[in-house]
Amino acid sequence: MSTVSTEIRDGIAIITVDNPPVNALSHSVREGLSNQMKELSSNADVSAIVIACAGRTFIAGADIREFGRPPQPPHLTEVVLEIEAMEKPVVAAIHGTALGGGLEVALSCHYRVALSSAKIGLPEVKLGILPGAGGTQRLPRIAGPANALDAIVSGRHISAKEAKGWGVLDELVEDNLLDAAIAFAKAAVDMGPRRTGEMTIDSAKFGPEFFDGFRKSVAKQTRGYFAPERCIQCVEAAVNLPFDEGMKRERELFQECFTNPQAKALQHMFFAERQVSRIPGIDKDTPRREIKRVGIIGAGTMGGGIAMNFANVGIPVTILEVEQAALDRGLGVVRKNYERSAAKGKLTAEQVEGLMSQFTGTLSYDDLSDCDLIIEAVFETMDIKKKVFTELDRVAKPGAILASNTSYLDVDAIAACTKRPEDVLGLHFFSPANVMRLLEIVRAEKTSPEVLATCVDLAKTIRKVGVVAGVCHGFIGNRMLSPYGREAALSVIEGAKPEEVDAALFNFGMPMGPMTMSDMAGLDIGYLNRQGIGRENYETKAYDWMDRLVEAGRKGLKVGAGVYAYDEGSRTPKPDPEVMKIIEEESAKAGIERKPISADAIVERCMMALINEGAKILGEGIAYRASDIDVVYVNGYGYPPYRGGPMHYADHLGLKTVYAKICEYADTVGDRWWKPAPLLKELAEAGKSFADYDRENAG
Ligand code: 3HC
Ligand code: NAI
Repeated sequence: MSTVSTEIRDGIAIITVDNPPVNALSHSVREGLSNQMKELSSNADVSAIVIACAGRTFIAGADIREFGRPPQPPHLTEVVLEIEAMEKPVVAAIHGTALGGGLEVALSCHYRVALSSAKIGLPEVKLGILPGAGGTQRLPRIAGPANALDAIVSGRHISAKEAKGWGVLDELVEDNLLDAAIAFAKAAVDMGPRRTGEMTIDSAKFGPEFFDGFRKSVAKQTRGYFAPERCIQCVEAAVNLPFDEGMKRERELFQECFTNPQAKALQHMFFAERQVSRIPGIDKDTPRREIKRVGIIGAGTMGGGIAMNFANVGIPVTILEVEQAALDRGLGVVRKNYERSAAKGKLTAEQVEGLMSQFTGTLSYDDLSDCDLIIEAVFETMDIKKKVFTELDRVAKPGAILASNTSYLDVDAIAACTKRPEDVLGLHFFSPANVMRLLEIVRAEKTSPEVLATCVDLAKTIRKVGVVAGVCHGFIGNRMLSPYGREAALSVIEGAKPEEVDAALFNFGMPMGPMTMSDMAGLDIGYLNRQGIGRENYETKAYDWMDRLVEAGRKGLKVGAGVYAYDEGSRTPKPDPEVMKIIEEESAKAGIERKPISADAIVERCMMALINEGAKILGEGIAYRASDIDVVYVNGYGYPPYRGGPMHYADHLGLKTVYAKICEYADTVGDRWWKPAPLLKELAEAGKSFADYDRENAG
């Protein structure tokens, strides 16, 4: 079936693009549009043209799946020029999302009519590229350079209402889009074509200071990214150059982005995030359970945030605590969070009350009997968790899903204390739970496919990216964090200053260095964990200096002193000579001669540790795909998306190189911590990548 078809009604040609699922501009669509322009320009029966789409959306952009292949003409740039050059008015009829190349097609049309529910956007920057079919030249002309910069550099979706205010959309309708577009096209016959490319910008109003001001305003969000600066340069070209020259500049800068490794990494992330919900053994026919009410046990740091996710999407929540004071405190924090959003103008006072009315507090387990899903978020102690699950087994209705938010504990053991282990799994949220996008869905040995499928869908409902993990100490994310933290701490004891370790990893792209992160989480957490696992089970010399800090009362940011010092009320870490003294003493005690360590060496050992653990997790089947691990690290730990996650980064370096490096560490410092993952060895020796593994295995 052809992806582009045309019908002529009453002198108006209606071109329909039908290329499911999102009408991407695959080769056949570009060719179809181009052919139609040629044919309709000489068809005397046609006085105006409407371009519309079948299915759920207007064209959502170029076909990203074609990016890796040699481009096949006609190129989109040529197609949009053909549309714009038409002598008969062309009207775009927009529903769903007109994104990227889709908006570029719409901007090359002479007029645009949209459903008021539609959205437009140029999200290319999120894929590491820039709008490459005139979007950077046409949007500034029609919407003004300030709006264009906002749209192109953020890549955000813009509501139809806002787009109309910018002048991008000419008419909004509630329904009957095609009829409205046809009527508009009929009226446009007298107006004739209005070409965006011919519009002018008063360049005097947008000098270098305008662009430098914009650069400064986005510096924090765009740190480390390659494409945003090129997007800005394109808009500068739109302001300062004639259209044709601007188009040439756009092409050059597009190529620069396209061939930069960041583009590949970000496109990898795009598909990785869509891949996570494909779970072996589960398909659309797997039955799902309905989740109409959720119970939460514990209203501490995590419980309150977890509950907010459900209230936000209209699912009422019952929260259980051990005592009234703790319940009041927890619900008070929830209210404060909503009120903070209201103060920023994101919620009205009425909406805050509406959200709060979704919460019911209780001290009695019996009040959980109507919940379809109950998530436990009490202290991280197996005994307490077991007590809670025994109670849940008593009160929960048949078919209720019972979940633990445990960070490390054995979900199989938790499930085993109930008579319904098939209904038990881990739902591991990240802090702050109402903000962080990641949800690790921990499939226990006996979790039923039905329960798993329900939770995979639920992740989407609460707007999280849910990654399925198997049971092991720390699942995917926290298990990998451990060797990463070990190498960071070892770097300190071997000669680097804490601020040097932090700077190295911050400059690699992490949102903060591991020392600052430890201070924020509280050094006492790691301390207690180490006490629990015993000195024979971790690298003592890496952490003895941190233990001394905790024993000296330096528990981190919450007490104003940890690895760093903090001024009263400040969150800014300051290097502290007292801490350096302790570090130097501990280095001497461990018989280590301190030597400077370069930033590259710090990054390398931390990354190699991360990758090696990731490969073990993959080889053991804890993660289904290497790309799932990337999704965990990017969404849960702030790993720079433009590096595509640790496993993609390993592929970028080449697994042979990575394997050789890890063997070298094992030879130099011993293989207690540096045993190469068997899967890494196997892939490296076969000349394969983690992406090959994903293609060949989980698909
Ligand atoms: N190319 C190829 N496939 C695409 C695609 C695209 N541009 N956009 C979405 N898809 C695929 C997805 O991979 C997914 O496939 P799957 O079912 O096999 O996993 C399917 O379409 C549905 O996508 P979603 O699950 O994301 O569906 P949603 O309804 O949640 O979202 C959407 C729809 C808002 C359109 C979202 O898919 C999206 O944001 N897509 C990307 C849009 C984009 O980035 N466009 C710019 C492309 S680059 C470009 O145009 C360059 C140009 O300037 C030259
Ligand atoms: P927290 O100490 O802030 O809150 C725990 C709450 O549970 C307290 O309010 C306490 O009163 C309540 N509680 C204790 N026993 C209870 C019981 N028997 N019945 C009902 N309520 C009880 O702890 P936090 O940080 O919220 O952690 C909870 C769980 O979430 C732990 O398993 C932790 O490992 C996990 N987790 C924590 C993360 C974090 O960053 N804090 C991140 C991800 C998971």
